[in-house]
Amino acid sequence: MAQKSIGILILIFVWVKYSQANDFPSLLVANATMGVIIDHEYLGIEYEKTFEVLKETIERVIREDLRGAGLNVKYYSWTKINFNKDFTVVFSIASCAATWEIFEHVRKERLLLLAITDPDCPRLPLHEALTIPRIKIGVELPQILVDIRTSHSVNWKTATILYDDIFDRDTISRVASSLSVESDSLAMSVSLLKLNSSTDLYERRENIKKSLSTFPTRSVGANFMVIATIPMTIIEVATELNMINTASQWLFLVSNPRKTNVTQLITYIKEGGNVAIATNNTIIDGSCSLGENCLYHELLKNFAMSLSKLVREEETIYSQISDEEWESIRLTKRERRDNMLEFIKDRLRDVQQCKPCVNWKFESAETWGLRFDNTEGGKLKAFKPILTYSAVWDPINGFVHYDNLFPHIAHGFRNRTIPIAIYHNPPWQIVSYNEAGEVKSMRGISVNILNELAVKLNFTYAVHNVERSGNRTTYSFWDDFNVTADDDMKATFGLPSDVLELLTENTVLFGAIALTVHETYEKVLNFTFPISVQAYGMMIPRPKELSRLYLFLSPFTVDTWVCLSLTMALIGPLFYVVHYLSPYHEHHHITKKGGLFKIQNCFWYMYGALLQQGGMYLPRSDSGRIIVGTWWLVVLVVITTYCGNLVAFLTFPKMEIPVNTVGQLVNQKHGFTWSIRSNTYLESYLKETEIEKYVRLNDSTETHDSVTNGTISRVRGGKHIIIDWETNLLHIMRKEFLETDKCEFTLSNEKFLDEKIGLILPTNSPYLNIFNNEIYRMLQMGFIQKWLSEYLPKKDRCSSKASSIEIENHTVNLKDMQGCFLVLVIGIIAALFVIVFECCCKRYRVLDETKLIKPFVK
Ligand SMILES: *[C@@H]1O[C@H](CO)[C@@H](O)[C@H](O)[C@H]1NC(C)=O
Ligand SMILES: *[C@@H]1O[C@H](CO)[C@@H](O)[C@H](O)[C@H]1NC(C)=O
Ligand SMILES: *[C@@H]1O[C@H](CO)[C@@H](O)[C@H](O)[C@H]1NC(C)=O
Ligand SMILES: *[C@@H]1O[C@H](CO)[C@@H](O)[C@H](O)[C@H]1NC(C)=O
Repeated sequence: MAQKSIGILILIFVWVKYSQANDFPSLLVANATMGVIIDHEYLGIEYEKTFEVLKETIERVIREDLRGAGLNVKYYSWTKINFNKDFTVVFSIASCAATWEIFEHVRKERLLLLAITDPDCPRLPLHEALTIPRIKIGVELPQILVDIRTSHSVNWKTATILYDDIFDRDTISRVASSLSVESDSLAMSVSLLKLNSSTDLYERRENIKKSLSTFPTRSVGANFMVIATIPMTIIEVATELNMINTASQWLFLVSNPRKTNVTQLITYIKEGGNVAIATNNTIIDGSCSLGENCLYHELLKNFAMSLSKLVREEETIYSQISDEEWESIRLTKRERRDNMLEFIKDRLRDVQQCKPCVNWKFESAETWGLRFDNTEGGKLKAFKPILTYSAVWDPINGFVHYDNLFPHIAHGFRNRTIPIAIYHNPPWQIVSYNEAGEVKSMRGISVNILNELAVKLNFTYAVHNVERSGNRTTYSFWDDFNVTADDDMKATFGLPSDVLELLTENTVLFGAIALTVHETYEKVLNFTFPISVQAYGMMIPRPKELSRLYLFLSPFTVDTWVCLSLTMALIGPLFYVVHYLSPYHEHHHITKKGGLFKIQNCFWYMYGALLQQGGMYLPRSDSGRIIVGTWWLVVLVVITTYCGNLVAFLTFPKMEIPVNTVGQLVNQKHGFTWSIRSNTYLESYLKETEIEKYVRLNDSTETHDSVTNGTISRVRGGKHIIIDWETNLLHIMRKEFLETDKCEFTLSNEKFLDEKIGLILPTNSPYLNIFNNEIYRMLQMGFIQKWLSEYLPKKDRCSSKASSIEIENHTVNLKDMQGCFLVLVIGIIAALFVIVFECCCKRYRVLDETKLIKPFVK
C-alpha cells in the first residue's frame, strides 16, 4: 500500500517537473504573442492618437522586419491584466506605479517587458526588463539622480546633494520625491544642502565656507553631488577645506557647460581627490530625434529582429536533433527573455537610429599616484589630474559605463607604479644590493607590509635608488651588507640623510622604512599607524637559587616562627595551671601527684600534640580538656599550612631577582652599574625627560655603541645591567645560551618606555589615511605580529623567568632534604650535650652526698 502511494507520488512529481519545464509553446509550433498595454487613464486625450500610431507601427514591423516567424498582438487599454503562459512579450505605456505593478505580474511568467513610463521613475531591474522614461529636454536631472541611485554606478550608502538656485521649488520637490521613491535595489540615504548663491562673490564664498566647514562628514558620509550654477566656488572652497581627499567622493553635475569652464574646474583637484564631472552634452540639431514615434518603431523593430533571430536559431537546432533531445536542450522561458533583452539593449546602444537629444557625459579625474608618471628629464612635473571618459547617460539606455565613475575607490592606484624609498636596516628592511649599488632583493617586516599594501591598494612599486655616497662613514647603516635574518633588531632611530631627502622633496610616495616616531622627524615626515611598539627592559645576571638548606624553615616567616615558639612556651604552663587548679580532682578524691600534675609533663604533652603525637595522660577535668581540644585545632591548622607550603617550596624554588624596576635600580641598594646603547630613542628621551628616576638613570649611565662580549661578561660577573629593547636583550640571551648552554641572564619584570615604530610618508601626503587604514587592518588581522615574530628569538629554557629546574618532574633530592638531616644532627648533638650535663649533675650529687655524709662518719 505504502509502496504504491510512494510510486504515485513519484509519478506526480516527475510529471509536474516535466510539464513545468515545457509548459510554454515553442516558437516553432505557435506564433509568439505580444500584449500591448496602452493605459487609457494615463494617456487621457493622447490615447487615441498613440493607439493609432502604435497599431500602424506594429503592422509595419510585422510586415517588414519579422522574418520566418509570426506574431499575434493583443491590445489592452487598462493595466490589470493576467498574462498567461502563452505570452512572450509585453509592451506597455503606463504610469510609474502601474508599470511596476505590471512588472510584478510579468515577472512571475518570465515574460519580457518593454515599458515606457513617467519621467523620474526608478528603472525596472536592468536584467529583467527595459524601461524608457519619457524625458523632456532640460528636466532630466531628477531622472539622472534616480538612475545614479538605483544603478550601481556608485556604491554609496549616503549622499549629500549640494545645490543652489539652480533648482526652482518645483524641481527640488521632484528631486526630493524621486529620491524618496522606494525601489528594490539600493538603499542610499540622501540629504540635501542648499548653498548660498549670492551674486556677490565674496559673500558667496564665505557662506559656502561656513556651510561646508561645519559639515558633519563623520556621520553623514563624504559623498557629494554638486548641482550648482557656479560650481567653481564650491570646488575652490572644498579644496581649501581639504574636503576633496582620498576618502571623499565628489560628483559635479554641470548642466550648463557653456557657463562653466570644466578645464578650469579640474585645476582645483588635488592629488588623491576622487572627482567625477558630468556635463550636459545635449545638442539639439538634425542628428537626434525628439519624437516618441521613432522610438516606438525602433523598439518594436529591434524586438521583431530578436524574435526572428530566435526562431531561426531554434529551427537550425531542431533540424539537427531528435524530439527528445530538443525538449531537453531548448531554451527555457527565462533564457529566451534574457536573450531577447540582451539583443534589444545591444542594438539600442550600438546602432541607435532615434538618438535621444538629451545626453550627459561623465568623466572621472585620475589623480592617485599620477604625479609620478609625469617625469621630465628625471624631474617630476607639477601635478595635473587627467579626465577619462567613464560613462554616458541618456534616457533610453540609462547609464552606459566604460569605466568606474570613481576609479580609485574601485581600484586603488590602478596598477600604477609608484616610487618608494628603502634602505638596509634589518630586520625591518633586509635589502641586498648588487655591485652597482642597485637593490637586488628585499624582504623584512616593512617589505612584507609594503607587499600587502601593494596588493590591497593595487599598485606596483619601484625602488628609488639612493646613490651611496662616497663618504661612507656618515651612515653606519650602509656598512654591513651581509646581515643574516636573525641579527638583532637594529636601530630605527635614525634615517640616512639621502633617504630623508627623497621623502622631504616628495620624490617618492612612500618610505617602506621602519622609523621611531619622534618629534625630530614628525616635523618633516608623516608617520603611519605604528607597526610595532618596542619596550625597554633590563638584562640582569640570573640570580642564583636560594640555598635549600633552610628549606624546612621557609614555609613560615620569621615572625610566624617566633610566635609559634612563644605559644609553645606558654601553652604548657597555662595548661598546667588550669589543670592543677581545677576542683574536679578534689571532688573525685584524686591525689594531685605525677602525670599532668608535673609542669614538664604538661609541656611535653603539648609539644607532642603539636607534632601530632599522642601522650600517656589526658586531662580529666573539662577545663583541661577544653584547652587540649583547642590546641589540637590550632595544631591542625598550623601543620596543614606548613605541609602545603613545604610542598610548594619544594616544587617551585624561590629566586629573588635583585632589581625589577628602574626605581630599584637607581636607588642603588645593590651597587649595580648599567649601560644603554647610544643613538637610541632611550638616550634622547633620558636627556630630555624631567621624571626623577629617569634623570637619575641618565646621570650615572654608561653608553656603548653595541653590546660587546666585554659588556656581557660584566653582566655575567653580577654587577652590571644592560638596558635595551627587550627583543634585543632576548637575542643576546639566546646567543649566549647557544654558546654556553647555560642560563646566565634574565630580564627584569618591568618594561618601560614604549618606543613606537611607524612607516613613513612625505608630509601632507594625501595617502596617509588609506595607508593607515590598511595597516590598521593588517594589525587587527595579526599579520604584522606574525611577521615580527619571525624575527624574534626562539624560545628556549632560559626565556622563561621561572626556575631552570624542570618543574613538572621534580623529584626530591638530597639537596632538598639536607635541612632535616641538619635538624637531626643538631638534635643528636644537643642530646649528647645534655647527656654529658646529666652525668655531671649526677656526679656532683653523689659527691655532695658523700660530702654531707662525711661528718657523720667522723
Ligand atoms: C502565425 O502567423 C502567421 C503570420 O503572421 C500566420 O500566417 C499563421 O497562420 C500563424 N500561425 C498560427 C499557428 O497562429
Ligand atoms: C577654460 O579655462 C582654461 C584655463 O583656465 C582656458 O585656457 C580656456 O580658454 C577656458 N575655456 C573657455 C571656453 O573659457
Ligand atoms: C588594478 O587596477 C587595474 C587598472 O584599473 C584593474 O584593471 C585591476 O582590476 C585592478 N586590480 C584589482 C585587484 O582591483
Ligand atoms: C618527566 O619524566 C619523564 C620520565 O622520566 C620524561 O619522559 C619526561 O620527559 C620528563 N618531563 C620533563 C618535562 O622533563
